[in-house]
Amino acid sequence: MKKIALAIALLLHMHTFAQNPPTIEAEQPKWWKEAIVYQIYPRSFKDSDGDGIGDLKGIISELDYIKSLGVNTIWLNPIYTSPNDDNGYDVSDYTNIMKDFGTMADFDMLLKAMHQKGLKLVMDLVVNHSSDEHKWFQESKKSRTNPYRDYYHWWPAENGKPPYRYSLFDINHDAWKYDSTTNSYYLHYFSAKQPDLKWENKQLRQEVYNIMHFWAQKGIDGFRLDAFQFAAKDTTYPAFPKGYEKNFVQYYGMQGNLHGYLQEMYYEVLSKYNVMSVAEGAGNTFEDAHNLVDADRKELNMAYAFEAVDLATHKGYRLTDLKNVFAKWDSAFAEKGWLSIFLASHDCARLVSRYGNDKEPFRKASSKLLSTLLLTLRGTPYYYNGDELGMKNIRFSSIDSYRDVQTINGFVYEKNNGGNVQAYLDQKAETSRDNARTPFQWNANANAGFTTGTPWIAVNPDYKQWNRAAQEADATSTLHYFRKLTALRQQNPLLVYGKFTLVDKSNSNVFAYTREWKGEKWLIALNFSEQVSNCLLPFAVTNSQVLLNNLPTEPRLGTHSINLDAYQAVILKLPR
Ligand code: GLC
Repeated sequence: MKKIALAIALLLHMHTFAQNPPTIEAEQPKWWKEAIVYQIYPRSFKDSDGDGIGDLKGIISELDYIKSLGVNTIWLNPIYTSPNDDNGYDVSDYTNIMKDFGTMADFDMLLKAMHQKGLKLVMDLVVNHSSDEHKWFQESKKSRTNPYRDYYHWWPAENGKPPYRYSLFDINHDAWKYDSTTNSYYLHYFSAKQPDLKWENKQLRQEVYNIMHFWAQKGIDGFRLDAFQFAAKDTTYPAFPKGYEKNFVQYYGMQGNLHGYLQEMYYEVLSKYNVMSVAEGAGNTFEDAHNLVDADRKELNMAYAFEAVDLATHKGYRLTDLKNVFAKWDSAFAEKGWLSIFLASHDCARLVSRYGNDKEPFRKASSKLLSTLLLTLRGTPYYYNGDELGMKNIRFSSIDSYRDVQTINGFVYEKNNGGNVQAYLDQKAETSRDNARTPFQWNANANAGFTTGTPWIAVNPDYKQWNRAAQEADATSTLHYFRKLTALRQQNPLLVYGKFTLVDKSNSNVFAYTREWKGEKWLIALNFSEQVSNCLLPFAVTNSQVLLNNLPTEPRLGTHSINLDAYQAVILKLPR
């Protein structure tokens, strides 16, 4: 009798165990894990007043479109007052709106309208550096004793030349710029008009927290911390080994007391609001990334790791590398911490041109395939505006067409240093950030319906065929397919929290993986090649249900294999 009671107790225990498995951090539900973030580049999205530059009223006018995509969060690139050396990433007033984009009243209207529609707003916080036109810098450069002097990094010239620091956007690649007023150099990791702020100064940090309170009290839902892994510095400025700029993240990332500042920011600001936080950059190792985002660290919610998005060069990439990168980051964060998933942004060329195939007849299928990948991995997807239409690289041939400070200053560097200017232009046609910044293609009218004026950057001439209006009318469009994907993710926690396992790892054409959650198992199989390709599976798929397929042809299911057409993407629910 006793034995039977014991057996029943044991069975009951096992049952409860199965129903309520021990909670691991990565499986704890959070709204920001379930978010599908749609990134809007405001300058290029929609112009409401005919000045050729997108604006907040333009975004308001398209909120129904954004809502219809099935995304639930918008990340806006910087909309603060700025002289626009780097399109808003050089802020001259953090609590005002850039004139080109509208007014604070427009912002309030945007936020209210978004919240009424159930859309959350994440704002860019650009505080590794400010604009050189910010009041802080204007004061700082006046004298060595100015109260704002220590808001920036200065090196007195009587100490000789400062140790070399590489600048990402400088025409000489030199991050120290001499300023004669005080006979000193200031530090700028980005352009000379983006001096780095000195996080080591408590007063500066307090200014930033006040800015964050200002926006959080307006009711925004999150902050994206621009270039934040670089914010803290070793202010003894030690010399770095020759050639260090080839892996500058190792030298610039996670320096000094960065984690201390983040914990302070969490305590002073983030913990007081229901806001999410995401860092651009995740350091150099898994450990760096965990130290930023593990919940018990009380720093940030998630980070962008760059390894996957950095794989594609102007010469392409290897699919097996992409598979390995996603798989290894997933496994390192399977239990603790959380990551962003992305392969495109305003900082890279277009998704379909870099990771897919934008030539006919493959553009549509490969664009859908890439959306499938981004929406079915574990982590919060950040999806860049226009990719739902399969927008592709414009591939400018002349330097005069470019607007991006990085591309233009890089050209000056090549010219001044005897580089091969034509080779530079050929490479930039594939890789420049301006490829992703051409105006959003709304319809086949003049300027793709983006503006009634002259657009600040050329519209991609393919807009007559590739635009939102045309895609609304075509049931097989990339746009409609994207909506199916977001619906699937919104309705299935499996796609958010489910375990990820790579299958047929060495297959160089097909990227296939399973997601598993509460006894359910799905297979996602993506043929990244122009050839019909076979993928081998360690389980049977014959009685699976096809949940989504980007092509009219059915996938050919063998018992332990699946055969896919060129750029075919399928999501299968496996029999239990
Ligand atoms: C980040 C932004 C990029 C900007 C840079 C400097 O990398 O994403 O657009 O140019 O920081 O702010």
